[in-house]
Amino acid sequence: PSSRAKSAWNATPGQPIARAAPGMLRAGAMAKQVIISPSILASDFARLGEEVTALDKGGADWIHVDVMDGHFVPNITMGPNVVAAIRPYTAKPLDVHLMIAPADPYLEAFAKAGADHLIVHAEAGPHLHRSLQAIRALGKKAGVALNPATPVEAVGPALDYADLVLVMSVSPGFGGQSFLPASLERIAAVRKMIGRRDILIEVDGGIGPANAAAILAAGADALVAGSSIFGAKGGYAAAIAALRKGAK
Ligand code: DX5
Ligand code: ZN
Repeated sequence: PSSRAKSAWNATPGQPIARAAPGMLRAGAMAKQVIISPSILASDFARLGEEVTALDKGGADWIHVDVMDGHFVPNITMGPNVVAAIRPYTAKPLDVHLMIAPADPYLEAFAKAGADHLIVHAEAGPHLHRSLQAIRALGKKAGVALNPATPVEAVGPALDYADLVLVMSVSPGFGGQSFLPASLERIAAVRKMIGRRDILIEVDGGIGPANAAAILAAGADALVAGSSIFGAKGGYAAAIAALRKGAK
């Protein structure tokens, strides 16, 4: 069945990811290219299209879209109509983080709106496999997110159905929170569980140039950053470059 098919990050046309073979990465034989996914949660919502274009031109690899429902998390942000509205402003992957419960009834709407990655929370519903299979059936990359208090083992049984694991390094709901240090060992534990599968680890919350290297060293591939990019003085390109440099 296609839902069991191996994910293929490297084979996707237009994916701006230079990624070595997993074995080489783990062995440190090749420098890993960090993926930067700026979160538009921290952007000026009145100028969202321009903000997305500015991030794209500033060197973002993905654009992270934080969807919140006021139920799974104590904040409300945007829905599929906003994803559709920003879609024309970048050709880069829209990395859509669904902090909503239930998520399944909305997956198709987000896929049709132009999302490339759909990330559901392991805590958001009782049938994680079904959610991930539904995302793959829509032709999108299937991601699973873990809240900081959720044992990492929660995603273990679903890994054959996932393309991405999003390790939350803050409690989801708001930007601008401090990185939880225990996240580093959680990233390493997820990396170990993934083994040789072609699954990327993304980390979200409280990330900036100062902690990027430690997060990468723990096993992350992609970094989400909101306040550290939008709060930087020198513009988005400089902030993204600073994050890349910090990650080295
Ligand atoms: C938090 C969101 C994050 C947030 C990150 O609930 O999932 O993506 O925007 O923002 P910073 O980088 O400010 O912690
Ligand atoms: Zn997020």
